[in-house]
Amino acid sequence: MQYMMVTILVGAYSIGGIMESIAQLMNLEGKVAIVTGGALGIGEAISMRLAEAGASVLIADINIEAAKRTAGNIVEKGGKAEAVKTDVSNANDTQQLIKAAVSTFGGIDILVNNAGIYPPSPAVNMSEAQWDKVLAINLKGTFLCAQAAAKEMIKAGGGGKIINLASAGATVPTGMMSHYDASKGGVISFTKSLAKELGQFQITVNAVAPGGVPTESSAAVAAEMIKILNLPKDAVPPPRSVLGRWGSPDDIAKVVCFLSSSMADYMTGSLVSVDGGFLLM
Ligand SMILES: NC(=O)c1ccc[n+]([C@@H]2O[C@H](COP(=O)([O-])OP(=O)(O)OC[C@H]3O[C@@H](n4cnc5c(N)ncnc54)[C@H](O)[C@@H]3O)[C@@H](O)[C@H]2O)c1
Repeated sequence: MQYMMVTILVGAYSIGGIMESIAQLMNLEGKVAIVTGGALGIGEAISMRLAEAGASVLIADINIEAAKRTAGNIVEKGGKAEAVKTDVSNANDTQQLIKAAVSTFGGIDILVNNAGIYPPSPAVNMSEAQWDKVLAINLKGTFLCAQAAAKEMIKAGGGGKIINLASAGATVPTGMMSHYDASKGGVISFTKSLAKELGQFQITVNAVAPGGVPTESSAAVAAEMIKILNLPKDAVPPPRSVLGRWGSPDDIAKVVCFLSSSMADYMTGSLVSVDGGFLLM
């Protein structure tokens, strides 16, 4: 028994060889990343951090003007980025996106499925079209992009990393977002299923669940909710976080950057909450 333990330990150290430094493990030089919805909000912060870590970043967004602006900001800082107009709910667009990654930067190593919408509506008043649109962008869009990227990653044979944006709302619903919460619950299940299928190709698939993160869109949604609930216009809910503050887009971006790096090589099928303790309240 003792002999077996020693063999396992010696084996582990010799397989590891010389350990890479943390700086090397976090370095994304030579990697190509796609960030969907990477023009604004959390996606913009993710694009900036991945570029800072050395990745060439393809910003895939339906808002091409904003995507070009973000790509320009990255290039101005010395990074590598391009913008591609993409509607993630459109299969043809997602296939073109992967072709663009190959023709522009030579392949695809990291996919961040961040594009998402969250228009509030009570379930009983929700139209079929509202339900379909949220599911089409948040859940089907995640599937379409992941499928197209995974095919290319498998063909290239070098593994890869897929990170999907879920939400704390999938675990603790905020209310008036049943379509959104269902879509993000679907993203979590899809993440686990895909991780199981793609492990054999050394492609990891993980999900990040942010709590409340003020962005232009989330501020507009909060104002809309105040209207629906008939609350005073200046009603400002306290941050739902045991840390006493809302999250920032960069709080999420730093964790996505970690999951995109070799620091997270042995993580797959995981759901990482980045919510300042939202789920504890
Ligand atoms: N902000 C929050 O509080 C919060 C909390 C939990 C989860 N999330 C998730 O994080 C992600 C980003 O949220 P955000 O607050 O930064 O949103 P945002 O609206 O600020 O940014 C979303 C980006 O996606 C793009 N987009 C929208 N529809 C698209 C489509 N069909 N195809 C391609 N791009 C499209 C938009 O143009 C925009 O650039 C979403 O998936 C959201 O559900 C956000």
